[in-house]
Amino acid sequence: MAAGKGTRMKSRLPKVLHRLAGRALLHHVIDTAAGLNARSCVVITGHGAAEVESKIGQLAGDYPGFAMQCVRQEPQLGTGHAVQQAAPALADDGVVVVLSGDVPLIGADTLRALIAACDGQHLALLTIDFADPTGYGRIVRAGDNAPVLAIVEHKDATDAQRQIREVYSGIMAVPARRLKAWLARLDNRNAQGEYYLTDVVKFAVADGVTVAAHRIDDALQVAGINSPAQLAELERAHQLRQANTLMAQGVRLADPARLDVRGELRCGQDVDIDVNCIFEGRVQLGDDVRVGANCVIANATIADGAVIHPFTHIDGEKLGVAVGEGALIGPFARLRPGAQLGAGVHIGNFVEVKNSTLAAGAKANHLAYLGDATVGERVNYGAGSITANYDGANKHRTVIEADVHIGSNCVLIAPVTIGAGGTVGGGSTITKSTPPGALSVARGKQVSIANWSRPAKKERA
Ligand code: UD1
Ligand code: CA
Repeated sequence: MAAGKGTRMKSRLPKVLHRLAGRALLHHVIDTAAGLNARSCVVITGHGAAEVESKIGQLAGDYPGFAMQCVRQEPQLGTGHAVQQAAPALADDGVVVVLSGDVPLIGADTLRALIAACDGQHLALLTIDFADPTGYGRIVRAGDNAPVLAIVEHKDATDAQRQIREVYSGIMAVPARRLKAWLARLDNRNAQGEYYLTDVVKFAVADGVTVAAHRIDDALQVAGINSPAQLAELERAHQLRQANTLMAQGVRLADPARLDVRGELRCGQDVDIDVNCIFEGRVQLGDDVRVGANCVIANATIADGAVIHPFTHIDGEKLGVAVGEGALIGPFARLRPGAQLGAGVHIGNFVEVKNSTLAAGAKANHLAYLGDATVGERVNYGAGSITANYDGANKHRTVIEADVHIGSNCVLIAPVTIGAGGTVGGGSTITKSTPPGALSVARGKQVSIANWSRPAKKERA
C-alpha cells in the first residue's frame, strides 16, 4: 500500500519516497519483499502515483526475476479499497502479504514467521502491544490469548475496547482466494466512512477460518512514518541499531549516536571510526583502518591499515574508489570515481583525485589535482600542480612514470607522458612528453634588473 497522502509530511514528495538511511521508504519495503522469494509484488499507488510508479520502474532493474507491477487507487477510500484494486493482479493459489510503503523496517524473518503462521490457509495478523495504543486498530479476543475475533479501529472502538493494548500493525498474510472473497464483502459503514481492510477478520471468524496473531515486541519493525519528526526518530533508532551491530563485531565508534550508514558498511578487525562520519552505498574498511571525524565515504574499498584523516570526502559512485594498504588520505582530501590508490599512497589536504591510478608510494600532499592520470611508484607530485585533462571537448590521459618528481605549481597538459625518474621544475607548463631521467623546465626565464626604482606618484602643485 503506497497510495496514502502523507498530509503531515507537508511535502510535495509522496510520503513513501522520503528517505530513511539513504533510500526511499518504499525501497526498503520492496527490498524486504524481494528477499522473500515472492512470486510478484503489486504496488498500490494513488497520491503522487506518477512519481511512485517511476521510482518502481527505476528499481525494477535492481531486482531481476522479481515481477513488480503498479495498480492505481483513485480516489483513496481506505485500506480495504486499496487492496481491492490489487486483487485482480493476485494469483488465486498464492498467499498475499499486505505491507505498508510507509513502514520501512519490517524484517524478512518476521514476515517469514507470519507466512508460516498463515500456512496457506489461515489469516495471520502481525500484532504488537503498545503502552499507548491511541489511533491503532485493537485486537479483540474472546479472552487473554483466546482466538482473535475482530480488529476494531480506534475511532469505532468502545471505551472498553480502547483499553486493549494489543494492536494491528497493518501487516497480514492471507490466502489470496479467501482474501478476494472477503474484499468483495467490505462496506464503509463505520466512523470514518472507509473500506477497512481490517474488517476481513470478522469475515474470517464467520467463515470458520482461524485467525492467527503473530505478536512481536520490536516496535521499530512496525513503526510507520507520518511526519518529519517520526522520520527523524526512526532514522536515529535505525542508525543506533546499525551502530550497535558494528560495535558487536568489534568496530570502535567514538560515538554510536554520531554515525550514519546509508547502505552497507563492512569492516575488518580493529577499525576505529571517529564522530560524524557518513557511509553511503557499499563501503568496505579493512583491518586496522582509522577514519577521522567528519568524513563522508561512499562506494569505496579501503585496505588494511589505511588512515582517512578528518573531513575527507570519498565518493566512488559507479566506478568505485580503492585506497591501498597503509595509505594516508586527508585531512580535507577528495577522492572521486575511479581513484585507485596503491599501498602507502599519501593524499594530503585539498588534493582531488579522479579516474586516476597511483602506484605504491606515490604522494600528492598539498593543493593538487590528478584527473585521468596514471602515476607510477614513488612519484612525488608537488603542491599546486594539476593535470589539465580536459581540452573543452575531450578528456586526455597524463602518464607520470615511476620515481618522477613534479615540482610545485606545474600544469601537465594531457595527453603527455613524463618519463621515469624525470623531474619537472616548479612552475612549468608541460605540453610535450619528457624523456626519462631528465630535468624538464618550461617557464619564463628569471631576470633581475639592478637598482630598479618603482614608479612614484607625482607631487601635486
Ligand atoms: C491502519 C489499520 C489499523 C492499524 C494501522 C497500523 C485499517 C482500516 N486500519 O490504520 O488497524 O493499527 O494501520 O498503522 O487498515 N492507504 C492506501 N489507500 C487508502 C488508505 C491507506 O494506500 O485508501 C495506505 C497508506 O498510505 C498507508 C497504509 O495504507 O501506507 C495504512 O494507512 P493508514 O491511513 O496509515 O492506516 P490507519 O488508518 O492508520
Ligand atoms: Ca497509519
